[in-house]
Amino acid sequence: MTKRYLVRTFGCQMNEHDSERLAGLLEADGYAPTTEVEDADVVVLNTCCIRENADNKLYGTLGHLKSVKDRHPGMEIVVAGCLAQKDQEVVAERAPYVDVVLGTHNVHRAVELLHEHQRTGRPVLEILSETVAEDHELFPSALPVVRESGHSAWVTIQIGCDNSCAFCIVPAVRGSEISRPFGDVVAEVERAAADGVTQVTLLGQNVNSFGRDLTLRLRGDDATTGTATAVDPAFLAGPAWVADGARRPRPLFADLLRSVGDVPGIRRVRYTSPHPKDLRPETIAAMADVPAVCEHLHLPLQSGSDRILAAMHRGYTADRYLERLAAARAGIDDLAVTTDIIVGFPGETDADFEATLQVAAEARYDNAFTFVYSPRPGTEAAGLADAAVPHDVAADRMARLRTVVEHSSRQDHEARVGRVEEVLVEGPSRRDPQRLTGRTRHNRLVHFAADEPMRAGTYATVLVTGASTTNLVGDPVEVLAGPAHRTRIPVSAG
Ligand code: 5AD
Ligand code: SF4
Repeated sequence: MTKRYLVRTFGCQMNEHDSERLAGLLEADGYAPTTEVEDADVVVLNTCCIRENADNKLYGTLGHLKSVKDRHPGMEIVVAGCLAQKDQEVVAERAPYVDVVLGTHNVHRAVELLHEHQRTGRPVLEILSETVAEDHELFPSALPVVRESGHSAWVTIQIGCDNSCAFCIVPAVRGSEISRPFGDVVAEVERAAADGVTQVTLLGQNVNSFGRDLTLRLRGDDATTGTATAVDPAFLAGPAWVADGARRPRPLFADLLRSVGDVPGIRRVRYTSPHPKDLRPETIAAMADVPAVCEHLHLPLQSGSDRILAAMHRGYTADRYLERLAAARAGIDDLAVTTDIIVGFPGETDADFEATLQVAAEARYDNAFTFVYSPRPGTEAAGLADAAVPHDVAADRMARLRTVVEHSSRQDHEARVGRVEEVLVEGPSRRDPQRLTGRTRHNRLVHFAADEPMRAGTYATVLVTGASTTNLVGDPVEVLAGPAHRTRIPVSAG
């Protein structure tokens, strides 16, 4: 009988993408998906540790799984991802019934580790301290994939992060920055497009520094060979980067946007996240020039206070941030801007917070992901417990920040009423199955009535007739293109 698996994901897009790869590896090994824990032979929990409560959520879920496993003794439990990377022994100690623990650097080993457990019957724990950069196969996107959607794909362009934001656990769990060879990224997008994918989202912790580490590796090659020809072709950037044999010192993220945007069949390119200190004019120019690149910039602010930004080691001031944002708005027609903001960083005073409110109002965000600061053991800011902002103060600041963000959000949405927007259909609306839901190029959610059925992956134009803080509503005008992918029909095992 076919064995069944279930992957549960906590956390960010990077994690969701790793989960797609875990699913792909399991399916390549003959497992079939299930949505019911009770039916699963393998349950994978792909964990996150960026903010608080991740541990509580994980151990809560594990507690529940234990009772299921007691009823189904053959069931295997795998814990993967950032929390596993950080707390490897703790997982094994607190939940000894977990069968396999693996970290962020060895997702590709999931099935082998599962087999090892099946062979030995003993718990298997494998956490690597870093990714082996030489091997292209180790990039999550190079593994087989079971995509959540047929029309959209995440493509990892870079793993790890070389910054050291005082609040952030990512460098500790994801390691230092490694860029994926340019040619590999483009080849993956071409493969995805051949499968009918029309929207790609390029993923990295700091996409604008893409290629920085490649320069060093290329220099090493040049130094030994004296020529550029010995370079692994996968590193070459194509015509955007190599012109008449003259090569720029490194491929820029902007070159990648241009090459990916040129792949036939790709109608939308998105990316996340750029670091404000590294946002270059070339990136803005590529966003403006390449029709497929969506007019949406996610530019994490974190704080509007120069004092707090310095304490966070963000590498920019509020003015510098706003200048970069103004340059982006001047260069890209009709740009939507979103951000991440943390309230209650240790030592944040009322005046610091007022500065954040002011920058947020000035930036006129389309939307913002707002977080109450949570100390992550092992980060620099975790040592600033004495300066902790009381919870009620942080909660109050959060509410005030939400009011400012929602104000600009609503204004932006209202300004769309009367316009015709291109929408990528995601499927029936969850609240009202008679209506369809899709996303504009700005990534705004649109609910619209459909006279004719439209499959997920269809591009259509919609006349916007109404707006709220969270979404637009409208009426369909015209279907531009049907979905190019085949619909995956789950095969039930007999
Ligand atoms: N506390 C609160 N928010 C955090 N983020 C990262 N680390 C923390 C933390 N310790 C937020 C940042 C980042 C987003 C992905 O998560 O705003 O941009
Ligand atoms: Fe974390 Fe800063 Fe790196 Fe983003 S840039 S992943 S916030 S350390």
